[in-house]
Amino acid sequence: MEMESCKWPNSSEAMLHYHDKEWGVPSHDDQYLFEMLCLEGAQAGLSWSTIIQKRGAYKEAFHQFDIKRCAALTEEELQAILDHSPIIKNRLKIWSVKKNAKQVLKIQEEFGSFASYMWKFTDGQPIVHNLKQESEMEAQSELSVFISKDLKKRGFSFVGPVIIYSYLQAIGMIDDHIVSCPMHTNNRDKKFELAQNLSGGVTGEMIITEGMPELIRQAGAEGIVMLKNEGLLPLKKQEKISVFGRVQVDYFCVGYGSGGDVRCPYTINLLEGLRNSGEVTINEELAKEYEAFSKHPDYKVNPGTWGNWPTHYPEMSLTEEQVKKAATFGEKAILIIGRAAGEDRENQLIPGSYYLTEEEKRMISLVTKHFSQVILLLNCGNIIDLSWTLEYRNQIQSILYTFLGGMESGNSVADVLTGKENPSGKLADTIAVHYEDYPSSSNFGNLSANHYVEDIFVGYRYFETFAKDKVLYPFGFGLSYTSFQISLVHVKEGGQQLEFEVQVKNIGKVPGKEVVQIYVNPPQGAIGKALRNLCGFQKTSMLKPGEMEVLKLLVDFEQLCSYDDTGKSGYENAYVLEAGIYQFYIGNQVRTADMLYEFERKESICLKQVLPALCVEEEHVFSRFQAVSTSGTVELGKETVPVHTIDYIHRITQQIPADIPLTGDKGYKLKDVRDGKVSMEDFIAQLSLEELEALTRGEGPMDSPQGVKGNAGVLGGVTEELRMKGIPAVVTADGPAGIRIQQTCSLIPCGTLLACTFHTQLVESLFARLSDEIVERQVDMILSPGMNIHRDPLCGRNFEYFTEDPLLCGQMAIAAVKGIQKNNISACPKHFACNNQETNRNKNDSRVSERALREIYLKPFELMVKHAKPKNIMTSYNKINGVWSHYNYDLNTQILRNEWGYEGNVITDWWMQYADSKEFPEISGNAYRVRAGVDVLMPGSKEVHGPTGENDGTLLASLGKKDGITLGEIQRSAGTILKYCMGTLAMERNKD
Ligand code: BGC
Repeated sequence: MEMESCKWPNSSEAMLHYHDKEWGVPSHDDQYLFEMLCLEGAQAGLSWSTIIQKRGAYKEAFHQFDIKRCAALTEEELQAILDHSPIIKNRLKIWSVKKNAKQVLKIQEEFGSFASYMWKFTDGQPIVHNLKQESEMEAQSELSVFISKDLKKRGFSFVGPVIIYSYLQAIGMIDDHIVSCPMHTNNRDKKFELAQNLSGGVTGEMIITEGMPELIRQAGAEGIVMLKNEGLLPLKKQEKISVFGRVQVDYFCVGYGSGGDVRCPYTINLLEGLRNSGEVTINEELAKEYEAFSKHPDYKVNPGTWGNWPTHYPEMSLTEEQVKKAATFGEKAILIIGRAAGEDRENQLIPGSYYLTEEEKRMISLVTKHFSQVILLLNCGNIIDLSWTLEYRNQIQSILYTFLGGMESGNSVADVLTGKENPSGKLADTIAVHYEDYPSSSNFGNLSANHYVEDIFVGYRYFETFAKDKVLYPFGFGLSYTSFQISLVHVKEGGQQLEFEVQVKNIGKVPGKEVVQIYVNPPQGAIGKALRNLCGFQKTSMLKPGEMEVLKLLVDFEQLCSYDDTGKSGYENAYVLEAGIYQFYIGNQVRTADMLYEFERKESICLKQVLPALCVEEEHVFSRFQAVSTSGTVELGKETVPVHTIDYIHRITQQIPADIPLTGDKGYKLKDVRDGKVSMEDFIAQLSLEELEALTRGEGPMDSPQGVKGNAGVLGGVTEELRMKGIPAVVTADGPAGIRIQQTCSLIPCGTLLACTFHTQLVESLFARLSDEIVERQVDMILSPGMNIHRDPLCGRNFEYFTEDPLLCGQMAIAAVKGIQKNNISACPKHFACNNQETNRNKNDSRVSERALREIYLKPFELMVKHAKPKNIMTSYNKINGVWSHYNYDLNTQILRNEWGYEGNVITDWWMQYADSKEFPEISGNAYRVRAGVDVLMPGSKEVHGPTGENDGTLLASLGKKDGITLGEIQRSAGTILKYCMGTLAMERNKD
């Protein structure tokens, strides 16, 4: 039986946090363990909630718990921590950090690592307590008393037996539930597995794909968004510049995890980019100080481990003298703030993540004090807090969001700063004043379920309708070095489409590009709607001063309608165009776009009637936002989310395909089917049950020996028998930022930056070139693009994903998929659907109305499936309204295939959760998955360290039983997989 959440640590919020977010997942990472030692020590005699609240401050004070750095703390530094840091003012505890750090270093010298020192007490064997209830849990044991004494003898402080007991739990030595906690088992294993994968080096020569650097540089520059510019930019020729902030050297070119981790041939940081440009004079003395700092063994970047990556890199401490001196070089400074982003963890509301660290605040205040001209660069994967820039309104005159630009990052930024490229990026997300202003903020990050109470009012749809004053920078916003005049020339109405001809004229002094955006304000009708909805956009070509271009923007009625899940419009479970006036706002950002066109519909029409699907469960009903219009104004109201009871047994069983009678091996090869000599049906008929089973899962491990080193696993010909039948092992590899294998591959800008280009053709060209590289590296399926909606700015994977807007997301994904699939390569867009947070990502339930699903979260997938025809799609880890995506019949069959006409293959995200079907008690695990229409389990094994290449028994267990899986269902998935395999380039590589 699947356990939803762990019942053990429910004594207090702080304890829950401790268990779930901090040390709930055993680790062997010494730095992590040192942090725990410090915080456990700090906690002695205090409550956990106090320590956890101050955790960010501890991290900051103790140099991210860098052991060497802590061991080297001077008396003055310790005194400064005691006097100024917002941590517990306890002299003994503060000094003990240094003392313990020194001892940890000695232990590392003697035993290799602190974890190994601990494990030697049990000869590497875990001690398992099969506890039945919390009251049986101990606080200490003989062993912890023993180790505590040993540590004291070695000169440690604050290492009492209770602290050491929790330490033993944290490293997994004592399993009195944390190690095998149902909430963490899967996560923990995965972390270790992928971390190993990450450490693999590069094999083969260094290759740079021709044309890629130029495309990456171009895209990198076009996605940079200029938020403010009061005359400082572009930089003047040979202007003298001092650059502050360590990411000028340690630039974030990409995020961490499967959406990053590309072994690229080189990266260009900001300093190199500026130097390469030859256009400015850098304060080299200051630059060298930063370079030395970043190389120094005590401060150099520690990349961390899977899911425990740094959120930022600690800043170099600046003295006032240093800054003053730099200011004598010239009056202009560039300040750069960097933030990492990464999978399997969230950005957090702490300094160094969403907020500034004390050191960064000091840097900003010193630089703005001594320089009269300051340019701020934000080298961040996610949107971070910018409310502080309001305090520096007069001191910081230019701001650019540079995101993560891939391997050419520094060159792209320098191009924009020097005016070689005129910025033309537009925000793909609203930047609100405060985090709490985001409508998702109070329903994000929960462990077991999140209610999407904001419903369709995601991002600017919420702000423009209900909270205009909470916006710092609106969606679609971005400045240029020139200005444009946008005017509507003509609108052609025809069929189910409108064609807008919009003229854009460059009325400034330098060449540039502009993005035309059309937003619809539909009638409120009975359903209630957002006041602005992006329904079309297009970027101009490079326009010289005085030059103009007329763009044609097509707007489908599909973009104008709403999904009625209540029946209020007179049509239930239908896409409806309600009667009333449709106003069209045209401009270069959401807030200032002008109302330039309108039309009236006299009657409501139903564009498409569908079956209710993916509805909220009755027992989880919640209240959702609703637009209520009273006398012309629209206000925020609430309504109960509708529920529907669907007879799944009927829905599913009526579509079960007929069995193809088994014939036994006829000697047919898959190429016989491809060459039209044998029908697919006959080919499938000759496959045994074992072969069919193997086809519905990957081979088992990542980095399969069947593919290029560092691949993410193979599917199709996963056994010798299948390969003998000519079914190739199809090789998969991550991901959104480029090919993640152990060879040099191009590192492209992150998804959010690409969305900010608003330039679909450029994105398509970039992915098309990547497609050539994919062919060269002998990869068949690239696990990209990531296309979940940015529901909340803290989601750890936002950087990989595009935007808060479904149309922009869909168009970007179409461009990426078309580009990738130009050679016989497959994209694998992901994660279908609602992977909107990383916290407890494979157990979490996204509870969301059918309307919000169809208008916001599924919409980009719908557009992409219909217009780009991907050959594969990856499901998400999470549940949607109570059912995991990989078991979700409505998601994968009813909507994806029956409604949208998808004909490709569906695969799981790596290592799915196993569960039993509610409707068909006979089936569970892989049978449940195949019945839902999810064809392949990836990478194929049940557990990360489980046996690979083996049948786990769950697919065939119910075959032949009443309501059990049928041969026809398994053969249906096999057919989908074979059809896909048959079209791949792997067919040519398969020697059999
Ligand atoms: C991620 C996927 C990725 C897969 C293979 C999972 O952790 O969620 O996006 O493609 O691993 O690396």
